[in-house]
Amino acid sequence: MVRKAVFPVAGLGTRFLPATKSVPKEMLPLLDRPCFAYVVAEAVEAGITELVLVTARGKTSIEDYFDRSPALEASLEASGKLGLLEEVRAIARHAKIVSVRQQEARGLGHAVLTAAPAVGNEDFAVILPDDIVDGSPPAIGQLLAIQADYGGAVVALKEVPREHTNRYGICAGSWQRPDLMQIQRMVEKPKPEEAPSTSSIVGRYVLPGRIFEILEQTPPGRGGEIQLTDAIAVLAAEGSVRGLSFQGQHFDTGHPLGLLEASLYFALRRPDYAEGARALLARQQQQRDS
Ligand code: UTP
Repeated sequence: MVRKAVFPVAGLGTRFLPATKSVPKEMLPLLDRPCFAYVVAEAVEAGITELVLVTARGKTSIEDYFDRSPALEASLEASGKLGLLEEVRAIARHAKIVSVRQQEARGLGHAVLTAAPAVGNEDFAVILPDDIVDGSPPAIGQLLAIQADYGGAVVALKEVPREHTNRYGICAGSWQRPDLMQIQRMVEKPKPEEAPSTSSIVGRYVLPGRIFEILEQTPPGRGGEIQLTDAIAVLAAEGSVRGLSFQGQHFDTGHPLGLLEASLYFALRRPDYAEGARALLARQQQQRDS
């Protein structure tokens, strides 16, 4: 039974500069809540009870978001905004949150390794907050179900256009089910002509505790960073990694247009925003046509 999820949030967020000079990209709003709240909700819905944040300097607002806020709660109560009050209180009740600090941004693999003392030697999930998935069951829950059936490690897969393989970790192997790949090989950001397939890794993983030993031995790879993909590739060569082509709508909110697309998607699906969002889109269209 997997109880813990690691959320690496220690990256620099350069694609969102200058906003990320003072605001962590995980706290940028997707409608009325930070991006990070969506991935936490996904983990909690999938039965994760302990959240391990790998943070860095300048990221304390992420932890603050999950704290009780007595002054704000008192003010909402006094002004009778009881719905909002309950919502604000519920955020702090979510799950147990532990944070560890990555002293230097040495790569995603290094960030995950930093979480080792908080995870111990047990199977755990890794969730990258840049990847927001609207899925039912939640994407990480779909991976956990595969891990419960087959053991080993599981990563989330999505097909991408060949010209974009150099943006992602790419997997190759054999499909044991139409949606489940037995992964043999993994390459971080290969050039389109060198990519062994177009199945890319989306930021959801279920990993065994043994990955920490492998990460300790993993030398810096692409970009001089310790790559999580390189460590998982060691397990793949042993035949214990599967890739699930998950069900759900995926957005890369790690860059401005991806966040805009996700904002429109969720606005059009939320009863309290849908009408306003449709009117806004129609106005934009009219202005463009005139
Ligand atoms: P990215 O490659 O997207 O890097 O990291 P980034 O710094 O977040 O964003 P850009 O590319 O500069 O705009 C993928 C994930 O790994 C985490 C990031 O926080 C993100 O969730 N990460 C990356 C770390 O926690 N530590 C690192 O050293 C590197």
